[in-house]
Amino acid sequence: MEENISKTPVHVSIIMDGNGRWAKERGLERVAGHAEGVESVRACTEAAVECGVKYLSLYAFSEENWGRPQDEVDALMHLMFKSMLGELSNFLDNGIRFIVLGNRRRLSKELNEAIDDCMARTDGNGRLTLTVFLSYSGRWDILQAARRLAEDIAANPGLDTDDMDMHALDRYLVTAGIPDPDLIIRTSGEMRLSNFMLWQSAYSELYFSDVLWPDFRKQEFKAALQSYSKRDRRYGKVK
Ligand code: IPE
Ligand code: IPE
Ligand code: MG
Repeated sequence: MEENISKTPVHVSIIMDGNGRWAKERGLERVAGHAEGVESVRACTEAAVECGVKYLSLYAFSEENWGRPQDEVDALMHLMFKSMLGELSNFLDNGIRFIVLGNRRRLSKELNEAIDDCMARTDGNGRLTLTVFLSYSGRWDILQAARRLAEDIAANPGLDTDDMDMHALDRYLVTAGIPDPDLIIRTSGEMRLSNFMLWQSAYSELYFSDVLWPDFRKQEFKAALQSYSKRDRRYGKVK
């Protein structure tokens, strides 16, 4: 059933934060919070489908998160591997296209192979595009885009820097082909982007929730969409 929320965002991004604090509050290891967070991913994905959202992007692991203790990094990568494989049949049953974006060179061969497989098998799906940002940072994205653009200009005498407009860089970002996020949600009360989608968020609406990610379920997701539906997006113009 698709719910009729007026002015539904096409693309919702979530900075999923607060797993560690959720676990600490319960006297558990941080990784228990990450594991419970997978349930919220499932709930929000379902809610996105129900509401007719076309793109759901999840910030799962930043470039900076590599600096966490090795056992936490390993646990997060293992969880990613396990939950992706566990969800594959759900993606196939529900018409979900699954994508991973980020600096994939830093991921293990085993994880990269599983990601490639999952992406290939869900490639034709079009109900919802679920993108997980893994080993991603906004500055890394802009840098790799600028580098590749410069390489193309150097290799192509027909290309000129003067011909490069705002959209030229869009095509080199890892998000090429995905519309900019209409709504960015951050959980756990933190009010910052932490290096997420810096270029793409220029005119995104921001929504901050105090709820910790493992507790952020359908109701919270739909509340964020309700808030979005009341926003007046002016893009610098006068209405
Ligand atoms: C978000 O939860 C998950 C990742 C950043 C990988 P945190 O692990 O950042 O949880 P807090 O912020 O320490 O509570
Ligand atoms: C942001 O959360 C990154 C992800 C949600 C993947 P962090 O917990 O890493 O961000 P900071 O350190 O509080 O800014
Ligand atoms: Mg955090």
